[in-house]
Formats: sequence, C-alpha cells, structure tokens
Amino acid sequence: MTDLTIQDLEVHYGAVRAVRGVSFDVADGSALGLVGESGSGKSTVARAVVGLAESAGAMRLGGVDIAASSRTARRQRRKVQLIFQDSRSSLDPRFTVEQCVMEGLDRSASGNRRDAAARVAELLEMVSLDPAVGRSRPGNLSGGQRQRVAIARALAAQPEVLIADEVTASLDVSVQAVVLNLLRRLQHELGLTMIFISHNLAVVRYMCDDLAVMFNGRIVEFGSVEGVIEAPEHPYTRSLLAAVPEVGERRLLSDSALEAAIGDPAPPGGCDYHLRCPAGPIADPDRSICLTADPTTEARSRAHRAACHFARRPAGV
Ligand SMILES: Nc1ncnc2c1ncn2[C@@H]1O[C@H](COP(=O)(O)OP(=O)(O)OP(=O)(O)O)[C@@H](O)[C@H]1O
Ligand SMILES: [Mg+2]
Repeated sequence: MTDLTIQDLEVHYGAVRAVRGVSFDVADGSALGLVGESGSGKSTVARAVVGLAESAGAMRLGGVDIAASSRTARRQRRKVQLIFQDSRSSLDPRFTVEQCVMEGLDRSASGNRRDAAARVAELLEMVSLDPAVGRSRPGNLSGGQRQRVAIARALAAQPEVLIADEVTASLDVSVQAVVLNLLRRLQHELGLTMIFISHNLAVVRYMCDDLAVMFNGRIVEFGSVEGVIEAPEHPYTRSLLAAVPEVGERRLLSDSALEAAIGDPAPPGGCDYHLRCPAGPIADPDRSICLTADPTTEARSRAHRAACHFARRPAGV
C-alpha cells in the first residue's frame, strides 16, 4: 500500500507560519480535496510535500520517509508530482512540447532518444493530445492543451501521487470539465493517489473521497467529502459552503480587525477562528473556552474531525 502520510507538517516563511501542525493520510488510490480561503496554506502544503518548500514534520509514501536526503528518499519523492495552476509559467516557452514532457522522464529509465520520443508520444496520447503537438511550443497552445501537457509531463515521472493545485482555475468552464474528466480517468486507470486543491467545492465533491478544510495554516475540519459537505461541523466550513464567507451571517468585525486576525504570525491563544466565528465568543460570551483552549487537540481522535469546541455533531457522536 502506498498511502501518503503527513504528520505535524510545519512551513515557516520568516515570521509567517504558513502551515502549522498539518496532519493527514491519503489512502492508496484515493483523492483528498484541500480547500480554504486564499492564503490558508494549501499550495504551501503541496510545495512542502514535493520538496519545493522547506518544512519540518514527517512525510511518508508507502512507509518510506520522503523528507530524508537519501537516494531512496529522493527516488520515492519523485513518485509525488505537482501540477500547478498556471502552465504558462511552469512550461518553459523556449522548449517544444516534446522537450517539456521529456524533462519529466526518468533519465536512467528512458533509454535512448528514440525511446524517449516514443514514450512522449504515448504520454501525449494518454492525455488525449495528438502526438504531433509535440513539435509545437507551449505558447501556441490553448490553456486546456497546455494543462494537458503539464499533466503528461507529471505522468512522465511515473507518479503514484498527483497533486493538482488549482489546475482548472484559469480555464473556461467547458474546458475545465474536459481536464477534470481526464484527471479522473487517469486516476482510475493508473490507480493514482490524488490531492486536489481547489476553491470550487462542487469540483472537489466530484473529484474527491475525503476533504480537508484549511484556515490560517491549519486543517480545521477533515472527513469524507460527503460528510463534510452534507454535515459541516466547523463554523468556518459552514461559511465556505455558504459560497462567500460571511454571507447570511452577521458581519462581526470591521475589515481592519479581520485583516489583523488573518495570517497573524503569532495567533492568540485558543481557537484561531474565534475572531471571525459566528458561533464563538463574540456572538456568545459564554463560549470563553474558545479564547483559551486550542480545539485541534481533541479533534484528532475523531474520523470526521472538526477543530471546534462547539462542532455541530449529530447526537451521540
Ligand atoms: N515564498 C513565500 N514567501 C513568503 N510567504 C509566503 C510564500 N509563499 C506563501 N507565503 C505565505 O504563506 C501563506 C500561505 O500561502 P499559500 O500560497 O500556501 O496559500 P493558498 O491557500 O495556496 O492560497 P491561494 O488560494 O491564494 O492559492 C500566505 O500567508 C502567503 O502569503
Ligand atoms: Mg495556492
């Protein structure tokens, strides 16, 4: 089983604690959705897993420590591939599409140039592109075609885990559907494990088995995608599901107080979300526990884990 296990992941950029104590498992062949507002740390988690951001904590793929510096660790980490939102900048415009995809091949395994070219043609076909596209430059392709080239390049490394970071955000809706269906087909055909980062909860529901909701560098709710979307337990998740945060809820703080509360490098004690929470101590003074006790600790023991002292759980759970 090549489960991906992340434990107590921390990523700091100077004083900014972009990711704080993030832990999750993605079971072999399953898909985890990662959602949360801009700046909540989703891309930083992705970058840390593939080694593009310096991090602390434990990361294992199939039991192998991928954060170590050994050759085994590096080889194992190559089985995790990241696809970015903007393929315009991730594909070198000076290269042909064939060269871009070839970059992803494992040099020791790809043999001579002719073998490599044949493998690239095969990969382009896998992402439903005509191999003749190999002679074009990325700049001459449509956004949807470019994103397929980025997927082909990621597949060239024979990954077991694919992390897709807002891969359809810059595409037209109809092209988004084509790319999403392609990813889903590839996931099933190749048995890929996926982390799918998106602002679009409908897309996450379509693509994923489990869902993690991030706020201010932490996972505040985790559970099955249906469980979290149908019965969100954390007030922040409920505000995300209400499409635009704060819609339908009393706006509790001025914009400047909100800004001060978000991304605070030294968050106050208690719950990170208490300054914005419509169910917390600002709305209900009896809920002072939110000011003093961190709700993440207790949440760890539950399958559907919401980091909230007053999580809306069905009776008896
Ligand atoms: N290279 C960097 N240097 C300094 N701070 C950074 C860097 N990259 C990200 N950050 C900060 O880390 C935090 C998390 O950013 P991140 O890009 O992971 O968020 P995100 O959830 O992916 O947001 P978005 O939805 O906008 O893509 C933010 O406060 C951001 O400003
Ligand atoms: Mg991001």
